[in-house]
Amino acid sequence: MLIDGRWVAAASGKTFESRNPATGELLARVAEGDREDIDRAVAAARKAFNGPWSKWKPAERQLLLLKLADLVEQHIEELAALDTFDMGAPISRTRNNRQRAVGMLRYYAGMATSLHGETIENSLVGEIFSYTLKEPVGVVGAIIPWNGPLTATIWKIGPALATGCTVVLKPAEEAPLTSLRLGELCLEAGVPPGVVNVVPGFGETAGAALSSHPDVDKVAFTGSHVTGQKIVQASAGNLKRVSLELGGKSPDIVFADADLDAAVPGASMAVFANSGQICSAGTRLFVEKKVYEEFTDKVARFAKNLKVGNGVNPETQVGPLVSSEQLDRVTDYLSIGRQEGAKRLSGGERLTDGDYQKGYFVPPTVFADVRDDMRIAQEEIFGPVISAIPFTDIDEVIQRGNATTFGLGSGVWTRDVSKAHRLAKAIRAGSVWVNCYQAMDPAVPFGGYKMSGYGRESGKQHLEEYLNVKAVWIKTA
Ligand code: NAI
Ligand code: MG
Repeated sequence: MLIDGRWVAAASGKTFESRNPATGELLARVAEGDREDIDRAVAAARKAFNGPWSKWKPAERQLLLLKLADLVEQHIEELAALDTFDMGAPISRTRNNRQRAVGMLRYYAGMATSLHGETIENSLVGEIFSYTLKEPVGVVGAIIPWNGPLTATIWKIGPALATGCTVVLKPAEEAPLTSLRLGELCLEAGVPPGVVNVVPGFGETAGAALSSHPDVDKVAFTGSHVTGQKIVQASAGNLKRVSLELGGKSPDIVFADADLDAAVPGASMAVFANSGQICSAGTRLFVEKKVYEEFTDKVARFAKNLKVGNGVNPETQVGPLVSSEQLDRVTDYLSIGRQEGAKRLSGGERLTDGDYQKGYFVPPTVFADVRDDMRIAQEEIFGPVISAIPFTDIDEVIQRGNATTFGLGSGVWTRDVSKAHRLAKAIRAGSVWVNCYQAMDPAVPFGGYKMSGYGRESGKQHLEEYLNVKAVWIKTA
């Protein structure tokens, strides 16, 4: 693990295994951090926060981020391969992350020199001048999931470096390798000791220690809503700031007037990309009744044609699930769907032929005739499973689309511009994608409504999450 600029073993000496979910093979034994390691890392981060790092000029932090961006770009093949080996995503996908990963770092680099307070006119009697300062919140505990290690790590480290915070990052136990390599690149870029620390370990131990730590000023968390709730409770001790990017059960709404040839691959990949292991996946597929049967049949055909396999194969479109736990969880939902009476149009069972049996492979699955009250229409599955639901009119689909505890993503497919705008306003979710899905950009905010969490990542607001606002009053007469 990386603490205070040095590579050290866990205080306990313990390690855990990281395995390739496509083959089961052992990739590495990783230092298993726990409370003592978190304590050391937080102490290093605090010391660094108070040290020379606090005097770095915005332009110096900008150059550091640009240097790190260049290093990530130079090593993108290796970083993409690490993601693929460690969590299974197809290499075509992880390679494609280049623009996003490097673009985020360059965006934060730009933002580093754009942060500023305001001078604010007040109405008090006499001469009192008031202005605000924006100051880094301090030591940030970053806890990330396994579904996109490279970009998830950058999404936490980037804004911290831009604002002058320091970080203790806990990668997911399922896929810690890319974060560790990125820690190395941080040192190579010239990140001072203690500014970025990477402590791998399990959620209940290292993660819990970090989120409850009295000397951590903010926790930035991405993961399940259940763990998000624990993070909020753990934050109460010192009332640290918390931002949460949690799960979803996002509606993807297809009207009969849509360009259906574009909507079929669009709505399919809104779920099957990354084997459905994306927080904003459009897993509740609402299709207007007039075209319901035709459309769901086409989606099922598309699903059957996707190439499922080991992510290292450049042809692979759908890789394995990340772990045996995730496999159990997803296959449980497949049987729940069958028991609930949903009609299976494709997939539906784990693949076990030949090489598939070594990994955690579930084929793209389409359930039709799903009712809103079924568990497969309400709960986040986090696997390649579409629940297709018919609807008849726009008011009805607004009401039903919003009938979920979550509010992260959403999709609308239509050629009718007024329908598109109406839905964009009516859907209670942090992102609405019209005639596309899952578009993301470093400058455009992303985050949740309702139980999908709070706070935003990307965009100007992301930097605000890492800043405190201080008001200064100066009596001048
Ligand atoms: P999780 O939310 O338990 O894990 C995410 C991160 O939180 C990991 O780094 C983990 O070590 C850490 N963590 C776990 N328990 C913790 C605790 N008590 N205190 C502090 N940190 C803790 O998610 P998990 O177990 O990987 O997956 C379970 C389900 O959660 C998935 O099937 C999926 O439905 C959902 N999920 C959603 C994600 C999203 O991006 N919205 C990402 C990962 C999972
Ligand atoms: Mg967990």
